[in-house]
Amino acid sequence: MAKRAIPDIVIGRLPVYLRALNFLVAEGRQVTSSQELGDRLGISSAQIRKDLSHFGEFGKQGTGYDIAFLRQQLSEILKVNRMWDVALVGAGNLGKAIADYPGFVGKGFNIIAIFDNDPAKIGQIMGINHVTVQPVEELERTLRERGIVVGIIATPAEHAQAIARTMVEGGVKAILNYAPITIMVPPGVHVQYIDPVVGLQRMTYYLA
Ligand code: NAI
Repeated sequence: MAKRAIPDIVIGRLPVYLRALNFLVAEGRQVTSSQELGDRLGISSAQIRKDLSHFGEFGKQGTGYDIAFLRQQLSEILKVNRMWDVALVGAGNLGKAIADYPGFVGKGFNIIAIFDNDPAKIGQIMGINHVTVQPVEELERTLRERGIVVGIIATPAEHAQAIARTMVEGGVKAILNYAPITIMVPPGVHVQYIDPVVGLQRMTYYLA
């Protein structure tokens, strides 16, 4: 029987669970419960148990979850129990902040290539990995040569679609898009958006 697809909204909660487990490990804790996780995350314990039940049996009735084990299992499910090489396009204000952000390493992601089309940026050494900014013309070839399947877009919105296309041609399967525009990708390629304006507008709906 074919494996039933797990709803994307469930997948979207797994990194949040993983983050909470990391905090618990840092606190020196060994065991937790769906109740405690739920209280910390503002999610019902039933929701957490239901989400996790898609992937197997991780806890025992009454004894809760072994934090290290659940963390390892979630890391495996999300495939972040390894390092993913990442290409960043756009080495402007935001791109530089992304390249400087130490929070990717240790969570499975390593920015190993950075691209821009501004001659003033090309050749600059950037970010915590001291990556030399390459001309964007080298994007597709570099992606292919280095086997990079994860890309981040931090260019002006009007260039995002063309960059996404080149990324896909180079073999990218997952794109994190910071540019405030929806991009089209073929089936089998995943896009996630980070747009603070969307977040703010979703909240102002609720304001008096
Ligand atoms: P910026 O102007 O400082 O940087 C943009 C960079 O992209 C420049 O270095 C430019 O040379 C490069 N670029 C332009 N066209 C390119 C192309 N075709 N190929 C390669 N590189 C190209 O702008 P900033 O402030 O860094 O913003 C970048 C993008 O991120 C914008 O779309 C902006 O709206 C968005 N943004 C998103 C935020 C978020 O939290 N999601 C926050 C701030 C900006």
